[in-house]
Amino acid sequence: MVTALGYGTTGLSVGQRVFGLADWYRDGTLAQYVAIEARNLAPLPGDVDLTVGASLPISGLTAWQGLFQHGRLQSGQSVLAHGAAGAVGTMVTQLAREFGAYVIGGDIQKRSAGLIRAGGTLVTVVGPPEARPADGRAVDFVVESDRGQLGGIVQRARDGRLRTNIGRVATLDDAVAALNATERRKGKTVIRMRP
Ligand SMILES: NC(=O)c1ccc[n+]([C@@H]2O[C@H](COP(=O)([O-])OP(=O)(O)OC[C@H]3O[C@@H](n4cnc5c(N)ncnc54)[C@H](OP(=O)(O)O)[C@@H]3O)[C@@H](O)[C@H]2O)c1
Repeated sequence: MVTALGYGTTGLSVGQRVFGLADWYRDGTLAQYVAIEARNLAPLPGDVDLTVGASLPISGLTAWQGLFQHGRLQSGQSVLAHGAAGAVGTMVTQLAREFGAYVIGGDIQKRSAGLIRAGGTLVTVVGPPEARPADGRAVDFVVESDRGQLGGIVQRARDGRLRTNIGRVATLDDAVAALNATERRKGKTVIRMRP
């Protein structure tokens, strides 16, 4: 919820529900109030639960940017998605299928370079690729917030084209334990500021 606007802010208003990505390079974003650049936020429609909104930005934007921005995905191309059962991976497979791509689940990043056909792209979100395609591009990137892309993602969550996987929902008091769980958990961990 927007409580105050910085001088010259456009596109948002006080009282509006918003969602987005906080600045990577700032500490203290797990807080009741946080200063975020307006361009990194998008309106959260009233019928979308705050928990759903909180679960979408990182995995949704990473998948979106990996497929469309860095991967330059064209309809009819094939997408080999590693970690397809994870938070980013499930967004990748849903968006790629909607876009008309053929999605293959698989394993092992190293072997992937040899599978890239001429002119194809290897996109990685876990650091520089261990091997590069002989006749294609290799891209590694860090996700950035984007209001237009957030809008496209939340619209898909609303109309059922994109399902988000919410794991544990914890209070701020339990945040440290929830984010450092020793046992493996599926789905995004969401911290609620109010019970
Ligand atoms: N560059 C960026 O901007 C950016 C943004 C977001 C996330 N990331 C990174 O992307 C990765 C995935 O994030 P996430 O939120 O999707 O994590 P996640 O929900 O924990 O999912 C990880 C997935 O990777 C699979 N996996 C684990 N080890 C693997 C291996 N050696 N080979 C192939 N698959 C393997 C897991 O398989 P199981 O289901 O079998 O356990 C799971 O499906 C993390 O490393 C994260 O730091 C980067």
